[in-house]
Amino acid sequence: MTTPAGAAQVKSPRKTLLIVYHTHTGGTLQMARAAADGAAREPAIDVRLLHAAQAGPGDVLAADGMIFATPENLAAMSGLLKDFFDRSYYAVLDRINGRPYTCLVCAGSDGSNAARQIERICAGWRLRLIADALIVCTRAQTPEDILRDKRIDPPDLERCTDLGAAFGAGLAMGIY
Ligand SMILES: Cc1cc2nc3c(=O)[nH]c(=O)nc-3n(C[C@H](O)[C@H](O)[C@H](O)COP(=O)(O)O)c2cc1C
Repeated sequence: MTTPAGAAQVKSPRKTLLIVYHTHTGGTLQMARAAADGAAREPAIDVRLLHAAQAGPGDVLAADGMIFATPENLAAMSGLLKDFFDRSYYAVLDRINGRPYTCLVCAGSDGSNAARQIERICAGWRLRLIADALIVCTRAQTPEDILRDKRIDPPDLERCTDLGAAFGAGLAMGIY
């Protein structure tokens, strides 16, 4: 469709989705990449996929929405994701109220406590949870399985892609 002569062109503003992740054996990164691919289907969305050690308060402030992705280690989020929150928390407090977020957890058999920890921190930030934490269990229980590189099953990756796509679409439409 062409724009009528003289009519101002209305440009929809671009939105940024920040995905901060950490991984030991690759599972969380596959989940985060799948979510990033889903969100990137939306042309108005810029996706920034950052390792937790590379991310900080400036990235949080610049983001319109966030996904935090972590393995569950010792019934907690991974240490490097916690370090990201520790470095960022007070620098952005009260400056990101109401922004949407969700989280991805790659766990051996549980994952709920890592999700709970992230949700508690994000409640302090007054972020808005737009979808329940997506937890994928790799069924790694023995030391050998836990230390082995992970391959996330395609149906689980599809769930991550769908979540990213829904997040991206919601951000672009201004629903979130
Ligand atoms: C030190 C350590 C502690 C772990 N603790 C838990 C745990 O508390 N609950 C759980 O479900 N899985 C636990 N796991 C298993 C990992 O969550 C699982 O291997 C997951 O797939 C790792 O994700 P990643 O590939 O992104 O590192 C642990 C793994 C390691 C290395």
